Amino acid sequence: MKQVHDKFLWGSATAAYQCEGAWDEDGKGLGEWDVFNHNSSLNINQVDGDIASDFYHKYKEDIDLMAAGNQNTYRFSISWARIIPQGVGEVNQKGIDFYNHVIDYCLEKGITPNATLFHYDLPYELSQIGGWENREIIDAFDAYAKVCFENFGDRVKIWSTVNEPRYYAYCSYVVGNYPPNYKLDFNRFWNILYNLMLGSAKVVDTYRKLGMDGRIGIVHDNGNVELDPATKEKDAVRLRADVFYNRMVLDTSVFGKLPEELGEVLQDWGVDPSFVYQEDVPNFAKGKVDYIGLNVYNRQYVTDYSEGETEVFHNNRGKGSNSKEGIRIKHVFESSFDPHVKRNLWGREVYPKCMYNALMEIKEKYGDILVYIAENGHGQYETPDENGYVNDDNRIELCGDFIHYMLKAREEGVNVQGYYMWSTMDLYSWINGYEKRYGLVRIDFENDTKRIPKASYYWYKNLIAENRDI
Ligand code: BG6
Repeated sequence: MKQVHDKFLWGSATAAYQCEGAWDEDGKGLGEWDVFNHNSSLNINQVDGDIASDFYHKYKEDIDLMAAGNQNTYRFSISWARIIPQGVGEVNQKGIDFYNHVIDYCLEKGITPNATLFHYDLPYELSQIGGWENREIIDAFDAYAKVCFENFGDRVKIWSTVNEPRYYAYCSYVVGNYPPNYKLDFNRFWNILYNLMLGSAKVVDTYRKLGMDGRIGIVHDNGNVELDPATKEKDAVRLRADVFYNRMVLDTSVFGKLPEELGEVLQDWGVDPSFVYQEDVPNFAKGKVDYIGLNVYNRQYVTDYSEGETEVFHNNRGKGSNSKEGIRIKHVFESSFDPHVKRNLWGREVYPKCMYNALMEIKEKYGDILVYIAENGHGQYETPDENGYVNDDNRIELCGDFIHYMLKAREEGVNVQGYYMWSTMDLYSWINGYEKRYGLVRIDFENDTKRIPKASYYWYKNLIAENRDI
């Protein structure tokens, strides 16, 4: 594989809609999230990304902070509607100019840019023709990706096609908290995930055909499966959960083919498989990735579920520490609750060892495939002191544990070559608006988006200095 960087990458990550703001500036088209947040009663906090962290205007300040914090890489996403306002057709030169400025400034500061093509923010026009349910979107995505490769590929050497296709399809078509807000629609869920994987494969193929010099991968939400010891049908539950949480994305992008058991799994779900076409087989085969980007937040702890209705439970509001997040799928499996593992206020497990388990599992299944930890972090409510400073000790402790487990897996032979903290600065959280904070740098949203590095920013800076030469 080509040499893209010779050092371990230590950096942080953001996504366009969550940090850029400038929602209607310089020719940007409407995004599905712009329209959803402006108009829908399902927008829980009634806030939007119109200004967000104002990265569009303050990117230099943010990149300066990254550089001063010893970070040598930055993962960001490109807004499709900023590049091609209607989703297809005319290209917006001002959108191209913006990302050129970001990329050039990163390089000037010694920061390796890592760009994601699709991080949830679909152009609104495309959402109106069915979004990822409509196979026409695959060509539209490919045309947009080609514009990005041709304009930025001389300087961006790390690309990812799609951020968390599984989680995106899950929230949009199963939980129903992302637009277009379908609930428990497994037919659409599997169909959309299939099309996202096909779109990803097509874009990988285009990258190769253009002879680009760099790496292209996909970013997956780690869902490494652990069985509740009480599980009776261990093999069946593991298979169903693993295809759903991981293998549909990872097998397809690493091996270039759908999981062999997909037909069986769709049957378990009662899903109509008519979206699977034989003629797609060679297209998946041409879409093998160079690396896996892994977003590590938690594991999936599951057990049998034979009786009862299908339901999903998700805490969209935080605050209640007794809440849980999970799913029950009739005759398939259900999420189980481990009394020994703490949960955060949003009902998610706080379990840093899942980093080690996930990486070891990747090695076992996919050998020495290159891995970047594309996101890892901790979301919480935060109260600054009178100077706006946040002493986020618990983030430091938790992320320190995650990093410890990543380094342990690395020592044991996993080919992990980069780590990105989510997030570079406070930004818009898809469901929790600006209440739930992840940033290394505080954004004072009430005060002209002023930037104030947190305790974790300085901690991370030192950690990078100590681990620069691993
Ligand atoms: C990841 C996404 O799933 O989790 C990010 O890639 C997101 O875009 C992050 O912000 C945290 O999610 P949340 O819902 O806790 O803000």
